[in-house]
Amino acid sequence: MILSFINQKGGVGKSTLSINVAAALARSSRVLLIDADEQGSASAWASLREETPFQVVGMARDNMARDALQIAADFAHTVIDGPPRAQKIARGVIIASDVVLIPIEPSGLSTWAAVETVGQVQEAQTIKPTLKCGFVVSRKIGQTVIGREIRDMAAEQGFPILQSEVLQRVPFAESLTVGQSIFEYAPDSPAAREIEALVSEVGAWVKNGSKTKVQRGSKAARSNR
Ligand SMILES: Nc1ncnc2c1ncn2[C@@H]1O[C@H](COP(=O)(O)OP(=O)(O)OP(=O)(O)O)[C@@H](O)[C@H]1O
Ligand SMILES: [Mg+2]
Repeated sequence: MILSFINQKGGVGKSTLSINVAAALARSSRVLLIDADEQGSASAWASLREETPFQVVGMARDNMARDALQIAADFAHTVIDGPPRAQKIARGVIIASDVVLIPIEPSGLSTWAAVETVGQVQEAQTIKPTLKCGFVVSRKIGQTVIGREIRDMAAEQGFPILQSEVLQRVPFAESLTVGQSIFEYAPDSPAAREIEALVSEVGAWVKNGSKTKVQRGSKAARSNR
């Protein structure tokens, strides 16, 4: 499986999720993490360590899809950490993927910022209909409810919002700063459980087709169709 985290908006948790999902998958299989962001956050994280639990390769270039597919063939799973902005690189990341997850903070602002990413995924789906795409709620604070704009946008696109949500939790930030995954830094934490739940939900989705329900939009979104 090639799984990418992509959203043109910066700071939504793409690198945090990529590293920790790769770490979760690496507990039972051979995993590659492709750093497709020229900021190199995932590569910087790897450079803090002597050994990484998965291989990390930098590939922040346009038309990276072919190279990504070639190298991914040697691994059971590949996770791609996508860039903010960089449209051309993002296009390559999306086309190389089996599953695209768009991390979104549960507020209206990140919805607008994701519109372009959603458009890119839809464009890719016209040439690769098997490409799956879903939203994953990231950096959720407390009991915030997912904004109606997000539910509407998901319903409009027919993209599910995964049931697993990743909350704003200090150990996520701290672990990356010291070059660890959440499973090394806080193995028994709620944060670690959230990543495990996300990985198992995505695994089931890929294996069994869509058990993840597309959330219903508001009246306004439905009448716009
Ligand atoms: N669930 C979380 N809980 C706490 N802090 C988080 C969480 N997710 C991300 N962060 C912190 O928020 C900041 C941005 O996260 P991250 O780098 O993963 O986002 P990104 O989408 O990859 O950003 P960019 O677009 O710049 O690549 C980092 O400092 C990270 O430690
Ligand atoms: Mg990043």
